[in-house]
Amino acid sequence: MKITVIGTGLIGSQLATELTARGHEVTAASLSSGVDLLTGTGLDTALAGAEAVVNVTNSPTFDEQSIPFFRTTVGHLLAAGERAGVGHQVLLSIVGVDQVPALDYYRGKALQEELLRGGPTPWSIVRATQFFEFMEPTMSWTSDETAVRLPATPVQPIASRDVVAALADVTTGTPLGGILETAGPERFTLDEIGRVTLAARGDHRPVVVDAQAGLFAAVQGDALTPGPNARVAPTRYQDWLAG
Ligand SMILES: NC(=O)c1ccc[n+]([C@@H]2O[C@H](COP(=O)([O-])OP(=O)(O)OC[C@H]3O[C@@H](n4cnc5c(N)ncnc54)[C@H](OP(=O)(O)O)[C@@H]3O)[C@@H](O)[C@H]2O)c1
Repeated sequence: MKITVIGTGLIGSQLATELTARGHEVTAASLSSGVDLLTGTGLDTALAGAEAVVNVTNSPTFDEQSIPFFRTTVGHLLAAGERAGVGHQVLLSIVGVDQVPALDYYRGKALQEELLRGGPTPWSIVRATQFFEFMEPTMSWTSDETAVRLPATPVQPIASRDVVAALADVTTGTPLGGILETAGPERFTLDEIGRVTLAARGDHRPVVVDAQAGLFAAVQGDALTPGPNARVAPTRYQDWLAG
């Protein structure tokens, strides 16, 4: 199958490798290779002959600028996909994305989903929980030399390689016309994740529960954890940290 992956970051780079290993013909493209979803530059070439396209781009910021980024980029991708006769548009999104309206970034991702659903091409959305790789940056935003401050937000994070496996399965299948949720095997609170992570690093700073700390302070209840039909991935956080 001929597949174009737009975005060559954490997920896109692994996805291109995985799809190639499964025998597919993959074009991987991003801003640095001359394909700009904000302007549409290079898209027609990148999508030529593609049966499926996967959107694993990301906004450069998490603030209000992410909303026009997601609106504009998905618009260009849908229009170019239609011109190229792409039969399947796949988007990576976030579990609970429509339940955290206080976060501009989540509103932007929810808009991205909405535009895809209303677009001309058969589609699939894979909603993943927070990546294991995202846990240390999350902690660093609210850390100093003496302590790490985190809210007790329930999370069920996932290894990026497990997200890639789910995306590869969905991309090579029939368009879902719906949402697949995927998450790791264990549920934590964010402060627990903080303690497990610091212990694995031999870092003796305390983790202080602070309901106002960082991005996830805006999350109400268990909005970030998946529903009962989620695809549960195998990799456990402590095993991943140890690796
Ligand atoms: N972090 C999490 O825990 C999490 C959880 C669930 C879902 N997600 C979603 O997963 C997706 C992918 O995340 P990631 O961590 O793989 O992202 P990433 O590593 O930041 O990579 C983002 C990619 O987007 C490309 N890009 C940015 N602006 C572009 C533009 N205007 N035109 C073309 N390409 C552009 C970048 O290109 P260059 O490299 O060339 O600059 C880069 O390859 C995101 O949409 C995110 O919302 C994340």
